[in-house]
Amino acid sequence: MEENRMNVMPRIGEKAPEFKAVTTQGEINFPSDYTGKWKILFSHPADFTPVCTTEFMAFGSMYSEFENLNCQLVGLSVDGLHSHIAWLRTIKEKIDYKGMKDLEIKFPLIDDVSMKVAKLYGMIQPNESETAAVRAVFFVDPENIIRTIMYYPLSLGRNFDEIKRVLVGLQTVDNFGVALPADWRPGEDVIIPPANSCGVAKERVEADEEGMKCYDWFFCTKEISKEKVEEKLGK
Ligand code: BEZ
Repeated sequence: MEENRMNVMPRIGEKAPEFKAVTTQGEINFPSDYTGKWKILFSHPADFTPVCTTEFMAFGSMYSEFENLNCQLVGLSVDGLHSHIAWLRTIKEKIDYKGMKDLEIKFPLIDDVSMKVAKLYGMIQPNESETAAVRAVFFVDPENIIRTIMYYPLSLGRNFDEIKRVLVGLQTVDNFGVALPADWRPGEDVIIPPANSCGVAKERVEADEEGMKCYDWFFCTKEISKEKVEEKLGK
């Protein structure tokens, strides 16, 4: 654990801070145990709370979709292991919500009673709560670099379609060397990244590639089919 980083919020483009933790699936070293995979490290405020329960059920029901994208989910709250185990058992045995029931949570949930990991990742935001983690989501790539960070307040559950869209988007950016427009979904046109110089951009406008469309000298798109995106992702 990098103790001297305790008051520094991790940022996009940085190496994900290393930690060792006890989880519902045994001890883990994050992110190194998962090098070569994408990781989504996410926090929630507390076990046995309703919004968190709906979020865990949403993630749990999408587990195989993330697995198919070569992505390991890792959850965290500042509760202990016994509480985590009891809560996950309650979810499996008792909660029938929006067609989701008998749901086994197959990803690790970190015991962070000491708040060490939560503080390391800027998940304790005292004006929201001094005693519970906010709803954070860290997307960490196969080389263990943080690529996207989301923070949500305690009272608002996250959108899990958006979380998956971000993962698919990051993998598409990496695989195709493109940028992605607002609300992009696989199959929609992608953006040819702006060139470093206007000269190069001008050349691009003149190059009339199949499926390419230019709206102005700085703004060109091209087609990548949904099938082509799906074929490349997750590997
Ligand atoms: C919840 O997950 O329901 C929750 C947790 C902390 C504060 C508010 C709501």
